[in-house]
Amino acid sequence: MKILAFGPPGAGKGSVSEYIAKKYAIPHISTGDIVREETKKEGSKVTPYMSKGQLVPDTIMMELVGERLSRDDCEKGFILDGFPRTIPQAEYLKEHNIHVDHVINLQVGEENVVDRLSGRRMDPKTRKIYNLNTMADEIPPEVDKNSLVQREDDKPEVIRKRLTVYKEQTEPLVDYYEKEGLLRNIDANQPLDGVVQSIFSVLENKT
Ligand code: AP5
Repeated sequence: MKILAFGPPGAGKGSVSEYIAKKYAIPHISTGDIVREETKKEGSKVTPYMSKGQLVPDTIMMELVGERLSRDDCEKGFILDGFPRTIPQAEYLKEHNIHVDHVINLQVGEENVVDRLSGRRMDPKTRKIYNLNTMADEIPPEVDKNSLVQREDDKPEVIRKRLTVYKEQTEPLVDYYEKEGLLRNIDANQPLDGVVQSIFSVLENKT
C-alpha cells in the first residue's frame, strides 16, 4: 500500500496519516517533520525556506525523501505526507519506479485551513498535536494549555505565504494525478473522525 497524503497546509494530512499508518501497519513519512529535523542541524540549508513559508528546493527534498524511502520499513508500503509538492517531485517518484496506489486529496475550505493552522499547538513533552480552535474539547485536563507551543510557520503572515505557495506550485498536481487515475477526493471539511472514515471507505473500495 503506497499512499500519498495530499492537500493544502492544515488540510489534516498529518492527522489522517497517523490513522492510515496504524490501520495498514505502514510507516508515516512526513516531509514536514523531516525538514523540521534538518533545521536543528548547524548551518542547515532548509531553515530559511521553511521559516518564510517557501518550499525547500526540489533537489534537497528529493535527496531527503529518496534516502527515507530506501529504508527497509518502506518495503511493504508507506503513507507519504507532504511529498510531492511540485511536478518535478512527482516525476522523481516515477523515475525511481516508486508507483503509488492512491493519492488522498483532502479538500478543505480556506476558512477552515486558517482556523486549523492558527489554533494548532504541540505539547513539547509528548509532541502530541492539539487544536485550540477546532478540537479544544479534546485537550485532556492534565495538559497545561499555556505550555503548548505554536509552530513558527503557523504565524498569520507565514500561513498566508504557505497558502499562496500551495496554489501556485502544488495545486497543479491535482490535475497531474487526476490524469494518472490516482486521485481520491475526500471532503476534509468535516470532523476528523468523518474524514478518516471516508478515507478508509475509499481505500477499501466501498465508495
Ligand atoms: P508541512 O509540515 O508538511 O506543512 P503543510 O503541508 O503546510 O501541512 P501542515 O503540517 O501545516 O498541515 P496538515 O495538512 O498536516 O494538517 P494537520 O494534520 O497538522 O511542511 C512544512 C514546510 O516544510 C513547508 O512549508 C516547506 O517549507 C517544507 N516542506 C515540506 N515538504 C516539502 C516538499 N515536498 N517540498 C518542498 N518543501 C517542503 O492539522 C492541522 C491542525 O488542524 C491540527 O491542529 C489538527 O489537530 C487540526 N485538524 C486536522 N484535521 C481536522 C479536522 N478534520 N477538523 C478539525 N481540526 C482538524
